[in-house]
Amino acid sequence: MSSLNEYLEKCRVTVDATLDELLPSAKERPGSIHELMRYSMFAGGKRIRPALILAANEACGGSYGNKNACLAAASVEMLHTFSLIHDDLPCMDDDDFRRGRPTAHKAFNEGLAVLGGDALCIFAYEVLARTGNIAVITEMSKALGTSGMIGGQVVDIESEGKPVTLETVKYIHDNKTAALIRASIVIGAQLADADAATIAKLEEYGMAIGLAFQVIDDILDITSTTEVLGKDVGSDQERGKATWPALTSLEESKRYAHELTATAKSAVEFLGDKAVMLVGIADYLENRIV
Ligand code: IPE
Ligand code: IPE
Ligand code: MG
Ligand code: MG
Ligand code: MG
Repeated sequence: MSSLNEYLEKCRVTVDATLDELLPSAKERPGSIHELMRYSMFAGGKRIRPALILAANEACGGSYGNKNACLAAASVEMLHTFSLIHDDLPCMDDDDFRRGRPTAHKAFNEGLAVLGGDALCIFAYEVLARTGNIAVITEMSKALGTSGMIGGQVVDIESEGKPVTLETVKYIHDNKTAALIRASIVIGAQLADADAATIAKLEEYGMAIGLAFQVIDDILDITSTTEVLGKDVGSDQERGKATWPALTSLEESKRYAHELTATAKSAVEFLGDKAVMLVGIADYLENRIV
């Protein structure tokens, strides 16, 4: 196993243990929603956003897995999972599979999936508040609201089946996906008391890998299978989604993801040896098949 794979595995174990400790038990009333929350959280996601928090925190001098970094890592994964539960709903992308199993509204029901997503979002903020760090809570909020994830999701669904420009696709991708990825890195750095100049360079890295992440996600929706990816494929074309390959080509999308990855890596060069995991994660995300 490469040292990067070992590191990602270590992050996964850390964040899963934190989540398991934090999330209410399915035995606790009302059990159905607690069961749904755990069903969606422990379905085997890549845990990339928590790993970015832990890696950025360490790159900026934090000790691996310190309490606040773990709280933020668990929080971002709950927020990401909330966005996925809602993204899959019939009123949005209407998908049946996620993380290798039926989507929350298929395994439970739509009402509970809406509420389960809401509950994860709200609980995530309670957990983030335990860091006592207002800057971090502000950063997360901006990344998720109409100036971030929700803004991107609005334009994503409003663009379905319509001709759009590449500039609009970039707006969608920057907001629905890159904003939370960027925020993960910034939050990791903020929790290590990084200075403004360091945070600015890390933001550059985050935006570049974040946009590349969604371009690759668009590519995989065309080139992969449900078995490998664990979620529905081909649904972008079916729904007439505004994606990078739909407006350019698979080839051009791969070239662009590569260019963005190079931009990201050069943005963290100034950190020297401390950037090794961030550089590794950028390469891993460019070449991922899941
Ligand atoms: C999927 O995110 C949704 C996008 C933003 C493209 P991930 O690819 O990180 O999904 P999981 O967490 O590994 O399931
Ligand atoms: C979703 O983008 C981004 C989110 C904010 C959840 P997609 O709709 O392309 O994500 P997948 O392919 O369903 O995971
Ligand atoms: Mg979507
Ligand atoms: Mg979707
Ligand atoms: Mg997709």
